[in-house]
Amino acid sequence: MSFTLEHKDPGSSARAGLFQTAHGPVHTPIFMPVGTVASVKGVHQRELREEVDPDIILGNTYHLYLRPGMDILEAAGGLHAFMGWDRAILTDSGGYQVYSLSANRKIKEEGVKFKSHIDGSYHVFTPERVMELQRSIGADIIMAFDECTPYPCDYKYAERSMHMTHRWLDRCLEHLEKVPPKYGYGQSFFPIVQGSTYKDLRERSAEYIASKGAVGNAIGGLSVGEPAEEMYAMAGAVCAILPEDKPRYLMGVGTPANILENIALGVDMFDCVMPTRNARNGMLFTSEGTINIKNKKWEADFSPLDPEGRTFVDREYTRAYLRHLFAANEYLGKQIATLHNLGFYLQLVREARQKIAEGTFAAWKDKMVRQMDKRL
Ligand code: GUN
Repeated sequence: MSFTLEHKDPGSSARAGLFQTAHGPVHTPIFMPVGTVASVKGVHQRELREEVDPDIILGNTYHLYLRPGMDILEAAGGLHAFMGWDRAILTDSGGYQVYSLSANRKIKEEGVKFKSHIDGSYHVFTPERVMELQRSIGADIIMAFDECTPYPCDYKYAERSMHMTHRWLDRCLEHLEKVPPKYGYGQSFFPIVQGSTYKDLRERSAEYIASKGAVGNAIGGLSVGEPAEEMYAMAGAVCAILPEDKPRYLMGVGTPANILENIALGVDMFDCVMPTRNARNGMLFTSEGTINIKNKKWEADFSPLDPEGRTFVDREYTRAYLRHLFAANEYLGKQIATLHNLGFYLQLVREARQKIAEGTFAAWKDKMVRQMDKRL
């Protein structure tokens, strides 16, 4: 697995690259749709491939461990075979989900003890255990086990937590040496920078992560409630230190504007539940701004969902029809909105990639960010 830097934008730090995996190429910048429990909610794999066309999707170790469990995934031959997705997959380590989802958890040097959000049972995640779980799931890119600090977070806590994340990283690396991949292809391991909103901690963490020489690197602990300007300041400081010839993945980000701003700072990969979750609540992203499709103003609007959109739902259904489906609480409404939003996010990163290749990204980005900020 390797990363090739193909283009650099003259007006910003944006880059376009190509990451080769055992399940095909990943063209960057990329947005990875979230498929938490072996499903991108409401979308068939075929629709995802043919209409949204992402090179890679994301799964969650925390959820897959609780359900269906490793025995089933191993018997299926790994997550790709289980869910019928033959392109690349990245799994998050659970370093975020144990904090955000489990009813209660105890963090110690050894690992995290947590209570399942499904049945209340107790479990322990250690860096070693999480590496084994990600071997069993078989994603192409696997993540370090880390602690995602909350916002706000006092300096002393953030500093201690960052050092523990670094020690956990060393344990992950050591354990991966002992446990080989299970399905005949390699897995790329990405360590994660932490350090909350403190620039000096972020820089120290980025130096430490860079020193490991991993094939790709991630930035965690952002988009947890801090103002966007702080997120950009941290991402910029970290990108200046992480190696230029390796992909950089900003975890859990974000709005379309957040994605474009972070691409301009040198980030290559993103994931977020926003396009899928907001779709289920009736919020549509378009190049002219966001739409709440439940609003009465769309009741008799028989124009297509998004004339600029690339998926079939954008052309074949009207705003009035989708509003009706939401009003009637029909499943199909959520499915249409999800496909539209994912189509929009993937089209946005493909266009960003093209503008970077043409050398015109910076001006295009500023224009898009202004447009997309509106509420229609
Ligand atoms: N997803 C969003 N933020 C984070 C983070 O800080 N760590 C991990 N593991 N996943 C995330």
